[in-house]
Amino acid sequence: MQEQAKAAPPASPPPAKATAPASAPASAPAAPPRLFWSAPEGRARLFHGDSLAVLAALPAESVDVIFADPPYFLSNGGMTCKAGKRASVDKGAWDQSRGVEENHEFNRAWLAACKRVLKPNGTIWVSGTGHVIYSVGYAMQQLGFKPLNEIVWEKPNPPPNLSCRYFTHATESILWAARDRKSKHHFAYDAMRKLNGGTQMKTVWRLTAPGKQEKLHGRHPTQKPLALLERLLMASGAPGALVLDPFNGSGTSGVAAARLGHSYIGIDLDAEYLDLTRRRLLAEHPHWDRQIAVPTAAPAVPAAGKPALHLVA
Ligand SMILES: C[S@@+](CC[C@H](N)C(=O)[O-])C[C@H]1O[C@@H](n2cnc3c(N)ncnc32)[C@H](O)[C@@H]1O
Repeated sequence: MQEQAKAAPPASPPPAKATAPASAPASAPAAPPRLFWSAPEGRARLFHGDSLAVLAALPAESVDVIFADPPYFLSNGGMTCKAGKRASVDKGAWDQSRGVEENHEFNRAWLAACKRVLKPNGTIWVSGTGHVIYSVGYAMQQLGFKPLNEIVWEKPNPPPNLSCRYFTHATESILWAARDRKSKHHFAYDAMRKLNGGTQMKTVWRLTAPGKQEKLHGRHPTQKPLALLERLLMASGAPGALVLDPFNGSGTSGVAAARLGHSYIGIDLDAEYLDLTRRRLLAEHPHWDRQIAVPTAAPAVPAAGKPALHLVA
C-alpha cells in the first residue's frame, strides 16, 4: 500500500481566537491606562486607555453628564463618498464589527460602567446610526436607564450616495436617558426655548457637519459638530457640571464643556486623538497651558478596587 503523503505542517501557528474582553478591540493598547494630560485644577482630564478600565477607576456617582459617540461598527469594507470621490469606509480598527452578539455585549459593558459613575440625577447621551443605535437602546433598557428623548441630527449637506441604490444617509440618532426611573434630571428648558427663537425646542436638530474652522488643530474621521455638543450639554448640564466622554475622539465634547464652564473627563485608546484634543482645549483656554506634572511611565489610574481618582468638579 502506498504511503499517504503527509500534510505539510502549517508555516505558522493558526491565529489565536480573539479572547479580548468586551471592551477592547484588537488595537487596544496592552499598557495600563494613564492620565495623558490635565488642565489646572482638573478642569479637563484626558485619559489614554480603554474606557472600561478608566471608568472602573473613577468614583461611583461622580459624573453629571455623559456624552458617548461609540464605535458604529461601520468599517467593514463598504464604500462612501469623500470630497466627491469614492473612498472605502475605514475609520480605524476600533470601528470594525465583531458580530451582532459581541457588539451588543460591548455596548452593554461600557453602558453599565457609565451608569455606575453617573450621579443619581445624571444623564447620558449616546449618538449612533442604525448600525449601532438599536443595540444601544436595548442595552439601556436592559440596564434600567430611563429614556428621555431621541434627538434626530439632520445633516443638510450629506455626502451623496454613490451606489444610487439607497436613500442618501442624512441623519444620526442621539438617545438621551436618565440614570434610572427615580432620577430628577436637569433640563435647561428656558435656554433651549430661547435658542429656538422663543418656541419649544423640538427633537429634530438641523446642523451642518464640522467645517474647516473646527478642524484647524487636526482631523478625526468621525468628528461631531461643536454646535451639536454645545446644545446638548447646555440642555443637560447645570452650571459647573462634570462631563465625561468615554470615546473622546477629537474631544468635541471637551471643547463644548470648556466653552460652557463645565469640567471634563475624556477617554480614548488613541494618544494622537488625545493630543489633538489637548490642542483644541488650549485654543479655547490658552492659560490652561500651565504645566501639570504627569508621570509618563507609571499608571495614573489605579486598578479597579483600589483608591479611586480624585475628581475636581
Ligand atoms: C466615533 S469616535 C468619537 C468622535 C468624537 N465624538 C469627536 O467629535 O471627535 C470614537 C472614538 O473612540 C475611541 N475608542 C474606540 N473604542 C474605545 C475604547 N474601548 N476605549 C476608549 N476609546 C475607544 C476611538 O479611538 C475613537 O477616537
